[in-house]
Amino acid sequence: MTGLALITGASSGIGAATAEALVEAGWRVIATGRRVDSLAALRDALGEPLIPLRLDVADERSVATLVERLPGDARLIDALVNNAGHDVGGRMRFDQGTLEDWGSIIATNLTGLVRVCHAIVPGMVARKRGHVVNIGSVVGRQGYAGGALYAASKFAVRGFTESLRKDFKGTGVRVSEVAPGLTRTEFAETRWRGDAQRAAAFYDGAKGALDARDIARAVAWVLAQPDHVTISELVLEPSGDP
Ligand SMILES: NC(=O)c1ccc[n+]([C@@H]2O[C@H](COP(=O)([O-])OP(=O)(O)OC[C@H]3O[C@@H](n4cnc5c(N)ncnc54)[C@H](OP(=O)(O)O)[C@@H]3O)[C@@H](O)[C@H]2O)c1
Repeated sequence: MTGLALITGASSGIGAATAEALVEAGWRVIATGRRVDSLAALRDALGEPLIPLRLDVADERSVATLVERLPGDARLIDALVNNAGHDVGGRMRFDQGTLEDWGSIIATNLTGLVRVCHAIVPGMVARKRGHVVNIGSVVGRQGYAGGALYAASKFAVRGFTESLRKDFKGTGVRVSEVAPGLTRTEFAETRWRGDAQRAAAFYDGAKGALDARDIARAVAWVLAQPDHVTISELVLEPSGDP
């Protein structure tokens, strides 16, 4: 299937790579995020099939006005890739982090994703056609020290996705989870509030990391399946250094 896809968090990392992969595969892509400069650069690189749109998934009003802010010919969304997410203030023992940071992780990674689904999925159900791909994580399967709220958000994404898939079975709306392992993106730099050196050392010290394009390829493949096939969960891990 190809058609019109909306991606959240398309201004960097996995979201930007997914926008590129989907445009290459013949999709029109609504690329959303808060950093409109990055979205404009993506539009310059990918051309007319890329429609940039400001969207803050943690802002109720931004999501509530999402559909009406889309160009008239870009409202019938066939695929929704819920990718926006962060871990700001993470890699921190629970009692040493702030409730503000912990709350922001949930507001973006879980509440934001639910909000965007609630705005887009009813149109898919009415048209009996659509595919939701939620970006989970290996951390949605196993927590780690310093990751209490990030893991909580991704465990929740997994449960939400599985239940949504069952809600819509037989309606023409498919629901999938793509769950990456460690992937080299802007994620760590954002977590450490712009500390690029610490982020680079973190990725350099890891035993292998995926590239955003690896995840993008997986999302494109999930979306390319024929209508009668639903990829429920796809977990990607780095193979590790030999
Ligand atoms: N990197 C990894 O190792 C890894 C592993 C497993 C899962 N993931 C998941 O993959 C997804 C993408 O992360 P990434 O690794 O590509 O990191 P990234 O490069 O930091 O990208 C995160 C994206 O999320 C967007 N975002 C954050 N808060 C937002 C908000 N309130 N509203 C809208 N967009 C928001 C950012 O856009 P703006 O700042 O422009 O809004 C950015 O485009 C996340 O859900 C993450 O949890 C990452």
